Amino acid sequence: MVRRAGGFIPATTLNLLAAAWIQFQIHDWFQHESYQSDEFYDIQLPPGDEWPHGKMLLPCTKPDETLEPSDINCPGYKNTNTAWWDGSQIYGSSEATTESQRTKDPDGKLLLTQRGKGVFLPHDDSGNPKTGFSDNWWTGMEMLHTLFAMEHNAICDMLRAAYPVWTG
Ligand code: HEM
Repeated sequence: MVRRAGGFIPATTLNLLAAAWIQFQIHDWFQHESYQSDEFYDIQLPPGDEWPHGKMLLPCTKPDETLEPSDINCPGYKNTNTAWWDGSQIYGSSEATTESQRTKDPDGKLLLTQRGKGVFLPHDDSGNPKTGFSDNWWTGMEMLHTLFAMEHNAICDMLRAAYPVWTG
């Protein structure tokens, strides 16, 4: 909260970086498991709505089948991301994902590619960014994931300078 002599000054605008930041954090904490293809909510559209194909289908979240019904008073759902505040949107929720992003160099860096003056996340053969969690992608995610990978690598350089014998 910013206070000045004249009192509290409210923010009158909020730009898209705020939305990107919150979404980025959500992607660290959770992604509830959905049914793969067969179960959808059919959201009613008002007459004349221009939503493509005339139907808005929302994938149903899949209840956790490992729970014993007598143990629960309301449905439970599985999280496919680690629930910890551990940067899993950057590093992945499995060792295999983390490994696939490492340069394998002795400095412990993440893969980034240089194009001209720009630094970019690498992409897989389908064009998806290689990062810990790449669902629901847009420019905001591209910016924050790239920034954090660059920050990771900058910290690697600082640690290398301070501790030359450390392994990656
Ligand atoms: C262009 C921006 C965004 C896109 C394309 C997007 C897309 C999606 C999609 C496709 C889902 C999954 C729905 C499902 O599995 O049924 C989702 C879930 C969710 N999104 Fe977003 N989203 C965006 C921005 C945001 C922002 C800005 C926030 C928060 C401020 C947010 C919060 C959430 C939350 C809380 C969930 C539920 C996660 C879960 O329970 O698994 N999203 N989003």
